[in-house]
Amino acid sequence: MVSDSTFPVIAIDGPTASGKGTVAQLVANHLGFHYLDSGALYRIVGFASLQKNIPLDQGLALAKMTQSLQIEFKGNNIFLDNQEITELIRTEEMGLRASAVGAIPEVRLALLSLQKSFLKAPGLVADGRDMATVIFPEAILKVFLTASAIIRAERRFKQLKNKGISANIDTLLGDLLARDERDTQRKDAPLCQAIDAHLLDTSNMDVEKAVQKVLFWYQKVSKEGSI
Ligand code: DC
Repeated sequence: MVSDSTFPVIAIDGPTASGKGTVAQLVANHLGFHYLDSGALYRIVGFASLQKNIPLDQGLALAKMTQSLQIEFKGNNIFLDNQEITELIRTEEMGLRASAVGAIPEVRLALLSLQKSFLKAPGLVADGRDMATVIFPEAILKVFLTASAIIRAERRFKQLKNKGISANIDTLLGDLLARDERDTQRKDAPLCQAIDAHLLDTSNMDVEKAVQKVLFWYQKVSKEGSI
């Protein structure tokens, strides 16, 4: 896998609650790279579509709205049209809405150039569903990060508990499986492992080990051209 862009990209895709966001951010911090949380963009579009009352069958109106949004990432905080929405888009409801808008081809197209604009010196770690397959097919390293559904549901449960939000593990598991189903079955840019991506199953692995593995692969591919 050889990068044809000036700056290296590490693409990390995977299903919901697999831990890819945490791993991607830590890898980016370690390398001093930029970080793209593409799921946040779909969550923002979902959030804005509810705020502006645009139904999901209005693909063109959603695309127009998407292009007009003023989105800013400042450190760990996310702003939409100058309003801080960091936590507002992290709910289960917004995850499901993001998955629904993500199935609309006009929305995906409207987010294309914004996602590509995150690639700047010295490099980028991008996480999502189609980073390796569609947005950055030239990525020097592609990782498909996953974990079993029950482990992912347990991780989500713990995250919510730590935030003081009560949740039911069976409901979480059901929502997560529904989201997996929609993300993998949609026609446009479905969630799948790119043929040249490396599988990282973190079911029995802590975050630190997963980060070390990605960094090891990156050092190897940078030096030797392959893993
Ligand atoms: O990574 P996340 O859970 O924040 O993503 C929320 C939803 O957004 C996910 O279920 C599907 C959609 N999404 C997408 O379609 N493509 C991406 N690259 C990232 C997310």
